[in-house]
Amino acid sequence: MQHFFQFRLAGFLFIALLFSSRNMAQSTQMSAQAPDNKAKIDELIKSMTLDEKIGQLSLFTSDWDKTGPSLNSNYKKLIRKGEVGAIFNAYTVDYVRDLQRIAVEDSRLKIPLIFGYDVIHGHRTIFPIPLGQACSWDLAAIEHAERIAAIEATAEGINWTFAPMVDIARDPRWGRVAEGAGEDTWLGCKIAAARVKGFQGGDLAADNTLIACVKHFAAYGAAQSGRDYNTVDMSQVSLYEWYLPPYKAAVDAGVGSVMTSFNEIAGVPSTCNKWLLTDLLRNDWKFNGFVVTDYTSINELMSHGVAGSIKEAAKISLNAGVDMDMQGSTYLNSLDSLLKEKQVSMARIDEAVKVVLEAKMKLGLFDDPYRYCNALRQEKEIMTTEALAAARKMVSESCVLLKNSKQTLPIPAGVKTIAVIGPLGDSKKDMLGNWSAAGNWEKCVTLYEGVRSRAGNNVEVLSENGCNVNDADRSGFEAAVKLAAKSDFIILALGENGWMSGEASSRTSIDLPGIQNELAEAIIKTGKPVAVVLFNGRPLAITRLNAMAPAILETWYGGTQAGNGIADVLFGDVNPSGKITMTFPRNEGQIPVFYNAKNTGRPYRASDPDAKYVSRYLDCSNDPLFPFGFGLSYTSFSYSGLAASVNGSQIQIAVKVANTGNIDGEEIVQLYVQDKVGSITRPVKELKGFQKVLLKKGETKSLSFTLTTDDLAFYHPDLKKFWEPGEFVIYVGTNSSETLTQSIQVN
Ligand code: NOJ
Repeated sequence: MQHFFQFRLAGFLFIALLFSSRNMAQSTQMSAQAPDNKAKIDELIKSMTLDEKIGQLSLFTSDWDKTGPSLNSNYKKLIRKGEVGAIFNAYTVDYVRDLQRIAVEDSRLKIPLIFGYDVIHGHRTIFPIPLGQACSWDLAAIEHAERIAAIEATAEGINWTFAPMVDIARDPRWGRVAEGAGEDTWLGCKIAAARVKGFQGGDLAADNTLIACVKHFAAYGAAQSGRDYNTVDMSQVSLYEWYLPPYKAAVDAGVGSVMTSFNEIAGVPSTCNKWLLTDLLRNDWKFNGFVVTDYTSINELMSHGVAGSIKEAAKISLNAGVDMDMQGSTYLNSLDSLLKEKQVSMARIDEAVKVVLEAKMKLGLFDDPYRYCNALRQEKEIMTTEALAAARKMVSESCVLLKNSKQTLPIPAGVKTIAVIGPLGDSKKDMLGNWSAAGNWEKCVTLYEGVRSRAGNNVEVLSENGCNVNDADRSGFEAAVKLAAKSDFIILALGENGWMSGEASSRTSIDLPGIQNELAEAIIKTGKPVAVVLFNGRPLAITRLNAMAPAILETWYGGTQAGNGIADVLFGDVNPSGKITMTFPRNEGQIPVFYNAKNTGRPYRASDPDAKYVSRYLDCSNDPLFPFGFGLSYTSFSYSGLAASVNGSQIQIAVKVANTGNIDGEEIVQLYVQDKVGSITRPVKELKGFQKVLLKKGETKSLSFTLTTDDLAFYHPDLKKFWEPGEFVIYVGTNSSETLTQSIQVN
């Protein structure tokens, strides 16, 4: 192991005295909280000028232009002066090394920089979008995907990712649902923890792990009307019960940083919310990493109307608990005078500097600031065969079979000509989806390419766009229909462009854009077998398509291996097992529609469909098009023998699941619970467990789940969490709507 401080002793006299190489080597494996390391950081802070301290609290972005990365030349000057603590959007070994060199050779205290980046669903090997990955319900595979992302990102100089995004979202109009795990809090917690573990590994000082940043704290997913950046307002009980737990799960998993959200909650923007950032996060949850803003969100406090000047915005943010300003320069420009005027304290500035320096220590950067600049790793550890295989597997696992009448899929053997029709059939760029980090779209396998290579030489595979994603140009219809008419099987690739979801991509109409429904109609009319393959970053309201298409496979945006992984499912090499983690509405008017809703005082009952004064619509049923947890298989499963019993504080649940079809398949068996009577109203059901099981054809498995009374606890109006004895209904089934049920008494 190289000891940076040994051979750079001359240039690092001061720090070397504080951090001897031997001690540093140990400290990176231990914690930055260890007493001797704490003392060293305190010493370092004592030696810093105010400007140097403010520098540690400032994060700036680098830019990439056609010739590669570039940094505003002024930033380089600032790094040299010790007035920048972290850089984002800078990667590749040479570039990172150059910038790091300025920090550790030219600045007075030689404090290394952290390099952050949005590694959201892979770095170079792009995995399916997070919402797609969530539909696999495969926590180990999700963790593994983030491990690969971390290996690739750290091989290119990055040591901090702005992920995971764990915002619970019940409104598919919001484009950022693509970045999260969906609508369920329980599953969201499991996925949050898995992703943090994948990124951070067991040892942050290892050269292939990086600091994760859970975001966007908090409740960004509840933006009113699904419009990005919009206001959030809800009861404290809802906030604690539904929105906060996934951030807490990330904190409990040891996440190293937290990003504030753009939104306000009950009138207080997150970035200046002292209750949120200090009372809750630091004091109650014992978070000991650092808090960064989202992009310029301190500056935005003026637009929110809670600060009359940038200076005031900086003051209330620092005092609320924000440690690092992303891109806003507000700390850089205001903390000096705020301190002089005693509007902020040196103690608070020191506290913020401390957590940033601790992060650098945890990463091992004081030991070796070039730890993440290993050219050999960059050459060998990116887009490896293993990474591509994992990505391909994740594509097939995240596919959800929404409809399959007359066993249209898998594509039957003996088919001689396959037509891939539709605007997304051969589009490399769209396969990445949004936030594709350093992903190169040219390396993506399109659906057409995946089908072409799987079909083999004896099958002719042809393609036609038919139309564009989002306009009214019908000139391609004729050729598409002609191709369909002469083909044995048609794969119809429809959906949204990759950029139609993600940040700043809210939509009010979430049916297929443009004239894609018309294209589908024209193709389906040919009477040929048609399977629709959907590409989209949110649940779509595809009632019209669902009525006419024989088969629909939801594939999200699969990333680098999209076409191969989808072809695995289309040809039946992989039996689909994904289940949606967000409800698909029938139309936009139903939104928000989610499974764990309340019953109301006048619930609609299917047994009395014409009742007027009940909670229902006149023009649409209450139930969604596809419920949470829904997803078909090429085989069929049957459930029997549900038996729940209570033993002290434990609830044992047994069920039998049989594969009643002709091929092996995996089933995601879901467990829900309803608290029948509470001191406040409780949801009609809540996910409390699942098992993903492989069942051979004809096989029956007996499964068991164990819950404890803690699993029945919920937040009360005084924000205390406890369970209440009484009747509970246990639901076990293939999705949130189709279940076996049993009522039990828990006292
Ligand atoms: C704004 C986004 O809200 C956030 O998720 C992202 O990490 C930052 N920009 C940095 O790119």
